[in-house]
This record gives sequence, C-alpha cells and structure tokens, in this order.
Amino acid sequence: MAAEESCAPAAQKTVLVGVTGCIAAYKSCEIVRLLQKAGVRVKVVMTEHATEFVGPTTFRALTHETVAVGLFDDPSDPIHHVSLAQEADVFLIAPCTANVIAKIANGLADDLLTTTALACTSPLVIAPAMNVNMYENPATRYNIGKLHIRGARIVEAGDGYLACGDVGRGRLAEPADIVAAVLEELGVSRDLAGRRVLVTAGPTVEPIDPVRYISNHSSGKTGYAIARAAARRGADVTLVSGPTALATPEGVRTVHVKTARDMLAAAEEAYPAADVAVFSAAVADMRPKEAAARKLKKGAPGTDLGTIELVENPDILATLGAAKRVGQVVVGFAAETENVVANARKKLATKHADLIVGNVVGEGRAFGTDDNEVWLVSADDVEEFPLMSKERLADEILDRAVQFFG
Ligand code: C5P
Repeated sequence: MAAEESCAPAAQKTVLVGVTGCIAAYKSCEIVRLLQKAGVRVKVVMTEHATEFVGPTTFRALTHETVAVGLFDDPSDPIHHVSLAQEADVFLIAPCTANVIAKIANGLADDLLTTTALACTSPLVIAPAMNVNMYENPATRYNIGKLHIRGARIVEAGDGYLACGDVGRGRLAEPADIVAAVLEELGVSRDLAGRRVLVTAGPTVEPIDPVRYISNHSSGKTGYAIARAAARRGADVTLVSGPTALATPEGVRTVHVKTARDMLAAAEEAYPAADVAVFSAAVADMRPKEAAARKLKKGAPGTDLGTIELVENPDILATLGAAKRVGQVVVGFAAETENVVANARKKLATKHADLIVGNVVGEGRAFGTDDNEVWLVSADDVEEFPLMSKERLADEILDRAVQFFG
C-alpha cells in the first residue's frame, strides 16, 4: 500500500487555514497537504503580511479553492468573513504571529482573517511561531493564556534554531502535530481508543564504574513520537525510556530506566496488557560483567584499564516477542549499516515481530536527527518510505499496527 493512502479519511470536513506574516508561512503548505491527505477539505485565508512570504497562488493551486486576503476581495460576497466562518468545521491559524494572537485575544477585527476569527463559532486551533523573546514576552503569554481559557487549542511552539538566528522556543510546532490537533478537534484519528500501547525508547546505559558507562547515540525521538502519536490517537500508553534529553510526553505513563535489564523488567510489567508493543529503544547489546563500585583509576594496584569483561544483555524484543499472545501486535526496529531489508526480514522471524522498521544508521543518519528514511517490513509486504519527520513516521507505523487488528 502506498504511504500516501494510509490516513483514515475524515468525512469531508472543512478546515479553514489562516496564514499570517511569519517566515514559517511556507510550512502551511505542508499542513494543507497533510490535512488533505486525511480527507479534509481545506480553504485558506491569509493576512496581507503573509502574502510577503507565500503567494496566494500557491495555496490556490494546493487547495483548488479561492484564497481570501482582503475583506472586500470578493465582490460577489460582501460578507465574506461570515460565510468563511460558517464553512469552517475548525479554524486553524498556523503560523500565528504575536500580532494576530494579540488581536484575536482582544477581539480586534481589522482584516479578513481576524474578522473571520471573531465571526467563527467552530473550534479554533492556534499554532504560534515567532522570535523567542516575543514568544516569552509576558504580553504574548498573557494573550495566549486568554485564548486558551476561551477554549482555543494552542499547539505550542517548539525549541530550536529560529529564523532570526536566536535559539529557543518559538519554532512552529511540527506540521504533523498541528494536523493531529486539528483532526482531534474534528473528531477523527481516535483509532487507538481503548487500546494499550507499550513503547520502549532511547538508549540504555550500562555502567562500567560510578562515572563511566557503555551506551549509544540514540536520542529517543522516534519512540517518543510514537508514544505521543499513540496517545493522540486515544491509546493508554506506557513509555519505557532510557536516558534522553526529551521532555516527558503529556498524557503518557513514562517509566525512566537506565540499563537494559531495568528496561526489560519495566517492559515485562506492561507487556501482557499491551495490544501494541513497539520496541524502538536502542538497547546496548552488552554490558560490563561487573560495574566497579569505585571509579577505576590509572595505575591503581589490580586495575587493568585496558580490559573490561563484557557480557551479553537480554534482548527485550526477542524475549517478549517469544511470549506474544494472540491479538498482540509487536513492532521492532532494525538499525543497520547495510542490507536493511534482508536484516529486517530476519528479525521479523527471529524476534517474532509483526512489523520491523528498518533504517540505515551511521554517517549522521537516523540517530539524533528529526527525520528518517525507513522500510516497513512485514511478513507479506515491504514498503519503502521517503525521508519523513519522525512525527509523521510515528503515525505511519501506528497506521500499519492498527491494520493487524483487522
Ligand atoms: O538485534 P538488533 O539489536 O539489531 O534488533 C533491534 C531491535 O531489537 C529493536 O527493536 C530493539 O529495540 C530491540 N532490541 C531489544 N533488546 C536488545 C537489543 C535490541 O529489545 N538487547
């Protein structure tokens, strides 16, 4: 099946996408496409400033709909703001500037977009994007708080490099996350409601002594994205995570562990009740046989820093895969430097998985990045995916897992 066809279609709902004057306006194109893929009809309304970043023609071509900018653009519809507002099942504003947030929070309506927002009674979803200082400014926080209290859904901006060169919060949230919020407001994509999902994520660390350890470069981003996506789709999620720098996902039961053996113990507890188990953790395959109680010191009598005796760690996926019960869906990963599909096929069989997500690692790929290029390998299918965000990949994996329920 093509990756393009995997989203559950929403019953021809209309989402009005408001685009404001921000460098992230180009990301609205991706948002429009993702909404369309979920079966949603999209109409776009832009501020004048937004047109400095992306032209209305782009959105007209993407949506096959007229794109509104000025209050009096459409001579055939003198109350365009009201008809647009009535058509919208959800009004999404992404990216939303500090200025537009302030205007909407205070009921100002001096252009088509803000007038439509005032006239719209459907759910309002706002995805802010701006410079970190503007975002953290008490005025903006206060205005966002006001909108939140009035029932608007805020898809908060993320951390990272900003267009202005600053680093911090203010980056438009991932398009997939924004779209998920919109779909939730539309009442779609709750296909994991009532299901339990277990996810292992991140690296494990295996102590050599109190200050040193064996580990790997896993960031945990994929596993966390899967846990978040499963929760968004209605699942009761347990995330068993090795040490990462990531924020604990909201609405997800998270168990923090360090070693492979701790991870196995925590996973074993959640596994029997899990409908879907996704083993995305990069578990260290070996550990020092003994962790020294004191820091190993150069030249200390009886200490040979050149040798650490290693023993093999338990394979969590293989152990739990072998105990799979009927109806359980098990997803594993294969991070390979070569022969990804062949190795994924092998793991499918040896680890009793239903689906293996194969990807190439090394040379700066997969580990720590925000996107990945994978193959999804099941007993009767191999799908090759283009480079995509880990957020999007999470949904693709869950789309496949859900299919095993029939
Ligand atoms: O055999 P390999 O480590 O390449 O297999 C990778 C898959 O097995 C991943 O899904 C990973 O989470 C899982 N795994 C595990 N426990 C290990 C090693 C790998 O669960 N000790």
